[in-house]
Amino acid sequence: MKTQRQLYYGADYNPEQWSKEVILEDMRLMKEAGVNYVSINIFGWVNLQPDESTYDFDFLDWLMDLLYENNIMIDLANGTASPPAWLVQKHPEMLPVTIHGNRLVHGSRQHYCPTSPIYRQYATDLSEAVANRYANHPGLVMWHINNEYTCHIHECYCDHCRKRFQTWLAEKYQTIAGLNDAWSTKFWSQSYGSWDEIFLPEAMPTFKNPAQQLDYRRFLSDMNLELYQLEKAAIAKYSQGIPYMTNLMGLHKYVDGFKWAPEMDVVSWNSYPNPFEKIPYPQFLANDLTRSLKKKPFLIMEQATSAVNWRQINGAKTPNQLRLWSYEALAHGADGIMFFQWRQSRGGAEKFHSAMVPHGDPHSSRIFRECAQLGNEFSQLSDIVGTRFLADVVVVFDWENWWALELDAKPSTLKYIHQLRSLYAALRALNLSVDFVHPSESLDGYPLVIAPNLYSAPEAFGKKINDYVRQGGIFLTNFFSGIVNEYDQVYLGGYPGLFRDTLGIIVEEFYPMKAATHHQIDFQGRRYDNSLWEEVIHLNGAKALATFQSGYLSDKPATTMIKIDDWNAYYVGTELSLEGLTTFLATILENHKLATHAQHFLAAPTEVSVTCRKGAGYTLVFLLNHTEQTTKVKLKAPGADLLTKETRQLVVLKPKEVAVLKYVD
Ligand code: GLA
Ligand code: ZN
Repeated sequence: MKTQRQLYYGADYNPEQWSKEVILEDMRLMKEAGVNYVSINIFGWVNLQPDESTYDFDFLDWLMDLLYENNIMIDLANGTASPPAWLVQKHPEMLPVTIHGNRLVHGSRQHYCPTSPIYRQYATDLSEAVANRYANHPGLVMWHINNEYTCHIHECYCDHCRKRFQTWLAEKYQTIAGLNDAWSTKFWSQSYGSWDEIFLPEAMPTFKNPAQQLDYRRFLSDMNLELYQLEKAAIAKYSQGIPYMTNLMGLHKYVDGFKWAPEMDVVSWNSYPNPFEKIPYPQFLANDLTRSLKKKPFLIMEQATSAVNWRQINGAKTPNQLRLWSYEALAHGADGIMFFQWRQSRGGAEKFHSAMVPHGDPHSSRIFRECAQLGNEFSQLSDIVGTRFLADVVVVFDWENWWALELDAKPSTLKYIHQLRSLYAALRALNLSVDFVHPSESLDGYPLVIAPNLYSAPEAFGKKINDYVRQGGIFLTNFFSGIVNEYDQVYLGGYPGLFRDTLGIIVEEFYPMKAATHHQIDFQGRRYDNSLWEEVIHLNGAKALATFQSGYLSDKPATTMIKIDDWNAYYVGTELSLEGLTTFLATILENHKLATHAQHFLAAPTEVSVTCRKGAGYTLVFLLNHTEQTTKVKLKAPGADLLTKETRQLVVLKPKEVAVLKYVD
């Protein structure tokens, strides 16, 4: 397998849109900007195959050689992301169909049904042709398969999808009785006598069967994965030793990243925080999540140099925001940062999306200057490549839970990412570094496991957590967790059925709060705001740590803790304010004297974000100032600053400033 030695730095490159002179100027500008990696041919289908019987590789041959001669590594896409008009004209049945029965037409992109045998055939033919031609090109370092699966098309209700759903269900359940059981179809007379009676969860009179909706989500993630695998297999007929990947989208609901990651050699994602947000926690969290998919460094395959074009109002990045947020990704395990795109388009839907080279003169552009500064800095940071992120705690994340939690007909409206965002903000406020795990993965080596709003989880996970706690691990979960199994059927006997015994509590009844209201809880004699959710918690071995302070629930438990010898489990029965949650987490750290990796290097706590990556014989400590103030960071020992080349024990960081210190073991 080709191995990476330097941080990758570059962009999506779409030179089909430009003249030869511009492309040659691009080579000079790329050198200036420190670009060493570009992704090409993502939307190249019609150029390579202008009609069904013609392949034309002249332009791509020239481009591949040109990039190679300029020492730019190539991430080559198979080019299947946007099918050509002639294919749509010939086979309109390959187009996706909306829930209201509209067939989406040519004129945008990603206009294919993921299960369509026609699309799959043409896409694999193209993949083979591209691989056959370029598999041994010396500039090639990565295969980029398709692009952002399910970004636009995350549902399809065509006849073929319905049939394929039926066979997918038959494979999964084996018997129709098995499906009826799993889907609780005795309810509302929904029972099926045969597979072909089953619909996709399309338009229906009222609430749809929840288990059917969940299976449809699984089905769509699986069908897109199957498509990825077919494209990859077509390439693999000709290619050896070149890694495969597709660009994921971080907290994107429709692709189950944990299921996809084993099929890729490298995981990457496209990161588009809103520049108006001071600290975009969901994107910061997605860096950790993406790294956790393969437990190794990841790539930012796309980010914007400044504004995007697809929000209602497209805020521009302010000076140094790009640099700070790029280092944030490196600090959390990225080994490369790329942009969408290299040169800002002249026409088409994305002409107002920022790029490394703007519409104006690059040499009078702040964006180009900042990009070039970053590229030149990155060329000195090869110590980062391949290092291991050091996590303090682990948070359970499950796409299937996301789907289940956000189905309709629930006690209240709960948003998984909103809840995770608050938790992540509180963890990072304490400089706790975070890994994510899927419920089926090992928890070994983590002192604290947090399972936020894990509404749905299989019985095996409940058992695993129980064993983990018995063996001395600390468990923390919160309201509406451990409620149903993977078929959306409630664990009976009192909530939260799956964790009841581990936590030593029984929740009798939920008390969702009115929208946009706050109550307060009493925690260690202080008051903290709570919102969204309250509930009646009975202690059954646990003790109350905090109590509700309003109405019927006054003085009843709001958060709990069970401690029997080495058995420690915590529960939060409401949505706490950031301050409340941070204090609660700090109490857990204090109770168990849990030390963080950051504390190992810091002489005193700091507001600056601190994370560590471990290399062979050294540790890198990343200091990032996301605050509005100049902040001093005192370290226990002097470290070698990779950017200034100085040895520093006291680092003074202006707002948005960063430092990377190297400590030899
Ligand atoms: C996605 C796509 C790119 C481009 C960007 C714009 O990430 O992969 O082709 O459209 O969005 O933000
Ligand atoms: Zn379809």
